[in-house]
Amino acid sequence: MCGIIGYIGSRQATPILIGGLRKLEYRGYDSAGVSVLDPTSGPSTSRVVRCRGKLSALEDKLTREPAPGTVGIGHTRWATHGRPSDENSHPHKVGPISIIHNGIIENHLALRAELAAAGAKFSSETDTEIFAHLVERALIGGAPDLTTAVRRSLARVRGSFAFVVMSDREPGTLVAAKNSSPLVVGLGDGENYVASDVTAILSETRKVLFIDEGEMVTVTRAGVTITDFEGNLHTREPKVITWSAVQAEKGGFKHYMLKEIHEQPRAVADTLVGRLDLEHDDVVFDGIELDVKKIKRIIFIACGTSYHASMVGEFMIESLARIPVEVDLASEFRYRDPIVGPGDLVVAVSQSGETLDTMEAIREAKRKGAQILAISNVLEASIPRLADHAFYTHAGPEIGVASTKAFTTQLVAMALFAIYLGRRGGALTRERAREVIAELVQLPVKMRDVVETAGQIQSLARRYGAANGFLFLGRGAQYPIALEGALKLKEISYIHAEGYAAGEMKHGPIALIDEHLPVVVLVPRGPYYEKAISNLEEVRARQGKVIAVATKGDNEIGGHADDVILVPDTAIELQPILTVLPLQMLSYYVADFKGTDIDQPRNLAKSVTVE
Ligand code: F6R
Repeated sequence: MCGIIGYIGSRQATPILIGGLRKLEYRGYDSAGVSVLDPTSGPSTSRVVRCRGKLSALEDKLTREPAPGTVGIGHTRWATHGRPSDENSHPHKVGPISIIHNGIIENHLALRAELAAAGAKFSSETDTEIFAHLVERALIGGAPDLTTAVRRSLARVRGSFAFVVMSDREPGTLVAAKNSSPLVVGLGDGENYVASDVTAILSETRKVLFIDEGEMVTVTRAGVTITDFEGNLHTREPKVITWSAVQAEKGGFKHYMLKEIHEQPRAVADTLVGRLDLEHDDVVFDGIELDVKKIKRIIFIACGTSYHASMVGEFMIESLARIPVEVDLASEFRYRDPIVGPGDLVVAVSQSGETLDTMEAIREAKRKGAQILAISNVLEASIPRLADHAFYTHAGPEIGVASTKAFTTQLVAMALFAIYLGRRGGALTRERAREVIAELVQLPVKMRDVVETAGQIQSLARRYGAANGFLFLGRGAQYPIALEGALKLKEISYIHAEGYAAGEMKHGPIALIDEHLPVVVLVPRGPYYEKAISNLEEVRARQGKVIAVATKGDNEIGGHADDVILVPDTAIELQPILTVLPLQMLSYYVADFKGTDIDQPRNLAKSVTVE
């Protein structure tokens, strides 16, 4: 959840580290810091500059306390152990050792007690500092070099981590290690980089090595050596990343989230590219060959927005492929001793591909013999690498913490998957597949139509933005969209919102309704229309304010709602991909009206690599 970067070369490290941290800031942002060495002028002591607050606070501090040198490490932090403070910011320095860390050392309490008993003095409350003490002690205890000292220290810690370690005594080396947290090495000419995310180093190099679980890497100016934690040599070819660096910038929009809302038609088109076989009315599922007729049950595991996408997936697969589907929160699944095994296909859905709860749920399902498919937006992330098969959405980097384009591309992946299953399992006729595929092809254009209603939604947001709470209602595939609408609003505007299955309203939440409560009701054309209209009337009878999201051409809806947002018609399975767009925009404009920090809402991080 934190962002890490390291540089070793002949240029000044600090500007490179800060540039990388700027790209990583979305991963964690309660404090930041760098540690930089200047080995060019003989023995050097690294200078650590760090502070609580956003990266700009660190930049201000660096103008007062420059950190010159050509080797360095940098970090943005999202606190897990120890409150956000200057002392708890990374890098941590113990003797000659500087260290940055992403993740959690699970046995930190026992190690802290052991080290304290042996005389170690701690200057922070973090679990991270413990590792710096371990490395220092390993060197004092006779480890011949930094790599060996880190390797010996790794044997003592349990948990999820990516570390980068630097030593004043061995200034030509950075040592990094990975277990359940992302780590990538960037290759330059006479210079190299380490980072938690490729976006941090894309402006410097496109040639990268992805580091695997249980690997460590020694990086010098001249080269890179990858080994496992036992010291066995690992080799691999570098990959060339094709994402453009500008893709990750704001592109003229006020916030990344708004830019990403507008990018959705393109992101969906990119996710469809090469996946539709129009000649055979089928999909190409990236060469993944599943024995569909043997799949007895599909279990989705995911968290947050990805969980909502999975609920839509359940609807799509049951409708198009007639295979039983269950959807589970990863954090519940992993601790429930779930009944799962051979014959089950477990589909782990994660935008970041790094969510710890989802990773652990996969491990549990694997232990019990299930086959795992991952749906991820990040190439080579930990979750797709843990899975037997991986299918990637092509949303590109998403910087806004509240997910938009990663969600809609997940829904497209679900639709492709449902068609794949339906065609191979025999439940989906060629004719129906052709209809749904034709609608998929139309989606980017229809999405653009909806995104262009931004002006109307902005004025709605102005009208309802002062409300203390919102209710979102939907039926069928619109129920998860109601949940997603409520989640988006909560996340970025801090207004309390609830999503409910419309039929459940009378069982409790109806008590909330009065003239002050805006209720967003999802009523697109289809089999649930009449029922949803009845629910909407129940709200109106109690003076609730109704905002209806309905289908273009619906001439009736105006008589049932205070405000109406119209979206184009499409196949019922694909309607969520259109109806979610006004809800994302409503949340965005309400939050903008309130003036909250939309791209980095309080207490949230983009990638949740802790329990
Ligand atoms: C909300 C949001 C989160 C994530 C959740 C799981 O906008 O993005 O709810 O969906 O933290 O993350 P991933 O999808 O990366 O596994």
